[in-house]
Amino acid sequence: MSRFITFEGIDGSGKSTQAKLLADYLSGKGEEVFFTKEPGEGKLGEAIRNEILDRRDIDIEPYAELCLFCADRAQHVRELIVPKLKDGCTVICDRYYDSTLAYQGFGRGLDPNLVSHMAMASSLGVEPDITFFLSIPVEQALLRLKDREKERNKMDEEPFEFHSRVDRGYRVLIEKSIPRIKVIEASTSPEEIHTEIKSFFE
Ligand code: ADP
Ligand code: TYD
Repeated sequence: MSRFITFEGIDGSGKSTQAKLLADYLSGKGEEVFFTKEPGEGKLGEAIRNEILDRRDIDIEPYAELCLFCADRAQHVRELIVPKLKDGCTVICDRYYDSTLAYQGFGRGLDPNLVSHMAMASSLGVEPDITFFLSIPVEQALLRLKDREKERNKMDEEPFEFHSRVDRGYRVLIEKSIPRIKVIEASTSPEEIHTEIKSFFE
């Protein structure tokens, strides 16, 4: 049985850590798991990721940024997510269209209706079965980022206010009580968070 699981949260919330722990856990239970992330998978994705996150010599217009994240997703869905789901895999994706709503809609302040339409269109109709939103105060997440070994990208370097707006965007989404979105308290230890997430699969 295939299923599609996504992880969401502000930068430094611990998503990648938890997405990988869940992938290992479900593999250990004998599931065929395909782990992936946005942006940056596939040849087109890699090129797009480099343009949006790594190049310091272009000041990207927010609408252009929106189009690039959506282009990355549409290609990712067609090239990888759909084929893996058809093969019967459990697909775990570190970020998906909720990131576009929060970052481009709220972080960048673009028209939420337009962002929502584009984000949905970029998914080619493929909706997650379950989404874990890792909830953490912005201050704490940004402190974690400071200690992270991974190289910082352009988004990580945005000011506190930007990350606060993104957080607000996620909160607005959560207030809609969308059944697939599970809010996980993420200021505790990685083990405690993993235990809570695992409980959805027992
Ligand atoms: P994200 O993918 O949300 O940006 P990461 O999983 O990369 O976050 O975690 C950011 C940093 O915080 C990493 O250095 C990671 O080792 C650390 N970290 C992850 N989860 C926790 C946690 N529960 N408590 C403390 N540090 C954590
Ligand atoms: P990444 O290094 O993958 O960070 P993280 O581990 O926190 O996911 O960087 C991806 C960045 O791109 C992250 O800051 C969120 C941002 N992003 C958007 O702004 N819009 C989107 O649609 C997506 C998928 C990501």
